[in-house]
Amino acid sequence: MSKKTKIYVCTEGKKCPKKGSKAVAAALHTAVAALSADDQERIAVKECKCLDLCKKGPSIVVAPEKVRYGRVTAGDAVAIVNAHLNGGEPLTRLQKKRFSNER
Ligand code: FES
Repeated sequence: MSKKTKIYVCTEGKKCPKKGSKAVAAALHTAVAALSADDQERIAVKECKCLDLCKKGPSIVVAPEKVRYGRVTAGDAVAIVNAHLNGGEPLTRLQKKRFSNER
């Protein structure tokens, strides 16, 4: 059995909330709530502090794969959940390529 997928959304950092991360988190929660009970057991949305990806906020990190997404919108929520629910391909259009210390 694979590990549970966790989608971490920066809603407590200094920048992402100003860029709409709370709406992104709400959309992710809604997308997960629309899944079957079995699928809901396999994926969770966690709101968190700064993920050190501030310049590209709203930022999220999907674990355990550690896929980083930037400039996420509420409209991306369903696609992100579906992409990671079954270990599928990350969404390259949102994926952060640079892992510098940008803040
Ligand atoms: S404020 Fe959101 S990643 Fe830093």
